[in-house]
Amino acid sequence: MATAEKPLLPPGTKVPAHIGVIMDGNGRWAKKRGLPRKFGHRQGAQTFRTITRHAKKLGVKYFTVYAFSTENWKRPADEVEAIMDLFDKYLDEVRDFIEENIRICFIGDRSMLRPSLQQKMASVEADSRDFTAMTLLIAINYGGRDEIAHSVRVLAEQVKSGRLEPQDITDKMIGENLYTAQLDGDCAPDVDLIIRPSGEQRLSNFMIWQSAYAEFYYTNILWPDFKPADLEKAVIAYSDRNRRFGGV
Ligand code: FPP
Repeated sequence: MATAEKPLLPPGTKVPAHIGVIMDGNGRWAKKRGLPRKFGHRQGAQTFRTITRHAKKLGVKYFTVYAFSTENWKRPADEVEAIMDLFDKYLDEVRDFIEENIRICFIGDRSMLRPSLQQKMASVEADSRDFTAMTLLIAINYGGRDEIAHSVRVLAEQVKSGRLEPQDITDKMIGENLYTAQLDGDCAPDVDLIIRPSGEQRLSNFMIWQSAYAEFYYTNILWPDFKPADLEKAVIAYSDRNRRFGGV
């Protein structure tokens, strides 16, 4: 007799349409084991694969991970290189995700990345553009302030060319020119839930515009130790929150 599969979440759980994750704690995970920091990033990349798949299983529609910030270039060159190498390797094996019907997009200023990486990113975006189960956004050389500055520059060009009057600029227009709205015909909705592991409780320039009404979930678990059950816990905590968006 076939047994019914146990649901992953309690009945009635509201699953956020868009989850953002700040993958923090890789360095401390390695340090605790007496290993160089890059081993923490390697394990963090593994966790990223597992958790992305699980987000799709839970019914999340947009899943954004903060892989490398505009400020992370300040790290030692060998650590930056290790992260870029992991990213490069991931792009090579990403066909697995494509098979899983996951669309992959990148947000951030890619002009500063290695040309070979930029090429791979463009080809992964093109090859996965018709996949519909979930959109995975990888934030790389991403900064929320940089993203807002980018949007404002686009609008300033329109003003300069006489197509837009300054008094007609709305917050909606700023939102429409953010990286999250430039996904080749698609636009990621504002983020509903931001998860930050490793005990830190700050946003660190991550989706600062899109998180205006986001719920935050913090946990002391270091990212490399983060498990599918931890994602479920975060979603259940989100589901219990009362979001009012400024209303009563
Ligand atoms: C923050 O932890 C983590 C990063 C800056 C890098 C995240 C990168 C990966 C998980 C791997 C590459 C990504 C992909 C998409 C394959 P930290 O180094 O600040 O940790 P610490 O606070 O403990 O020092």
